Amino acid sequence: MCGIFGYIGHQQALGLLVEGLRRLEYRGYDSTGVALLNDGEISYHRTVGKVGNLQSILPANVPGSQGIAHTRWATHGGVTLENTHPHRSFDGKVTLVHNGIIENYRALSKSLIARGIEMVGETDSEVLVHSIALELAKGVSPETSVRRTLKRVRGTWGLCVMFLEHDLLICARNGSPLIIGTGNGEMFISSDPHPLTSHTQQVVYLEDGDLAVVTKDSLKLSSLQGGSQEANISTLDEDWGESDLGDAPHFMLKEIYEQPDALRQCISGRIDREMGSGRLGGMQLQHNTLIQVPHVRLLGCGTAAIAAEIGQMLIERMARIPAVTHIASEYRNNDPVINPKALYLAVSQSGETADTIAAVKEIKLKGGQVFGVVNVVGSSIARLCGQGVYIHSGPEQSVASTKAFTNMVGALTIFAMQLGRTRHLSKDQGRELIQELQQVPHLMESYLENVGPIDEAVELVSSASSVLYLGRGLSAPVAKEGALKLMELAYIPCLAYPAGEMKHGPMALLEEGSPVVVVAPNDHLKEKTLSAIHECKARGAKIILIHEQGDEIAEEAHVSIPVPKVHPLLTPLLTVLPLQLMAYRTAVLLGKDVDRPRNLAKSVTVE
Ligand code: F6R
Repeated sequence: MCGIFGYIGHQQALGLLVEGLRRLEYRGYDSTGVALLNDGEISYHRTVGKVGNLQSILPANVPGSQGIAHTRWATHGGVTLENTHPHRSFDGKVTLVHNGIIENYRALSKSLIARGIEMVGETDSEVLVHSIALELAKGVSPETSVRRTLKRVRGTWGLCVMFLEHDLLICARNGSPLIIGTGNGEMFISSDPHPLTSHTQQVVYLEDGDLAVVTKDSLKLSSLQGGSQEANISTLDEDWGESDLGDAPHFMLKEIYEQPDALRQCISGRIDREMGSGRLGGMQLQHNTLIQVPHVRLLGCGTAAIAAEIGQMLIERMARIPAVTHIASEYRNNDPVINPKALYLAVSQSGETADTIAAVKEIKLKGGQVFGVVNVVGSSIARLCGQGVYIHSGPEQSVASTKAFTNMVGALTIFAMQLGRTRHLSKDQGRELIQELQQVPHLMESYLENVGPIDEAVELVSSASSVLYLGRGLSAPVAKEGALKLMELAYIPCLAYPAGEMKHGPMALLEEGSPVVVVAPNDHLKEKTLSAIHECKARGAKIILIHEQGDEIAEEAHVSIPVPKVHPLLTPLLTVLPLQLMAYRTAVLLGKDVDRPRNLAKSVTVE
């Protein structure tokens, strides 16, 4: 997490840096700062809080055409001004911003203190700036000073370093993303492609172990070990620039309403109506390979893992291939057994989640083939996998994921269909599914035009001390997603359980008036879910029921929220919508910061 932006060129840097930070704010918003070099002096402006707070303390004009900026998600050290980046060396000659974790910072810090250097804050990043300055003081070049320092460091970094006496920036990457945008007599550095699109389409993605010396008109790339290498220039997709709030009050609401179009994007050109199959070119899978797949493993974190669970069920149902979802952070630490013939899918909106990246590396190391199911084009997971499917949600700015979730489910549905057609799914079944899938964006629109009594549900949950979410089959992960959304946005403790499991423990929580959200589309499990509803009502619970339009199960609800009818395998794409809105409106009602929930950040690039 944390966002880095840097500039060196011919324009005044301050406005560019602040705008870059604004676009990266979703990566962390505990504190923020900029440093600018001008006429042999570096000016620093830092504050606790968001980019808006920084703007309010900035002087009208801070000259300088070179600078670095940072928005922080605190890992080591509290949310204080001292811990805010950019950090400055003891002698004032080096300034840096860092994203990542320095694992051996204690040892490094002790040795710096032993040399008489005072540590100003508690961050692990601060050891880097003093160490680089110590090396520089020995008379070596800025590049050598950074290289020597990083060789002593264990951990992860995306690093941008500025020097008082040198007209250049040094960038380095190991585990935390960094991208250099090359312009005409100017260079931009960013943690992700978003802020670059308004300046240049030509970018260089740094790889792990890369070190770059950047001047306003040159980029020299080498490895940490020293060998120089060629910088591969990629061209950015212009779509990534369109991420403004427009008239919407929050990005989350905007993104909820973008879901129909986002799903159209995801489906478009990827289905073969004639054969009743999916056509995911980027998977580069031949039919004879698909036939032999022994099992599928899906990996992700948070919402991505929940989308993966739905994908897992769809793969088992359509293709009859065993499929299992793993939380990436657990999977990689459990010395997993990898079958080279199996398919591994890494699901991630950002493509930068450190735990998912580490799981991909573990699988690849053991000879497994991993496919990315990713939103951000050119992200680390996309490049690491080299094959897979982009979900094409467009930029998702709200920390809470919405349109990426539905598009992950959409892409995994098409994949399951493609896999299924090589096995058990008949052409007619495939065609029926395709027809229904193509209807889903319209159905989403029709629901979003008339969302039902969400506010009645909000009234029940906003005053509750906890909320229970229930569902069965494909609706069990949907219930989980609803619980995650309400919890992360409104800070209300939520539990999600497969409805049948409720009586094995969670039911003890129920008392008169407890809100229970039940997801019960009209599938083969509805009758069983009904039993759970009765059991909850018998204990005085108030049922908020997400069900299909016209279904008589609505009579069981205290608050009944109907969604349009759809094929039973596609229900998650609709039943999740009221849950997203419920979480959104509850957070607004409680006065929470919807797009920037406390303690969270969008792109979790640390373990
Ligand atoms: C929840 C949410 C997170 C992310 C998780 C994985 O709304 O957004 O749970 O889903 O941090 O992130 P990605 O998908 O970028 O790997």
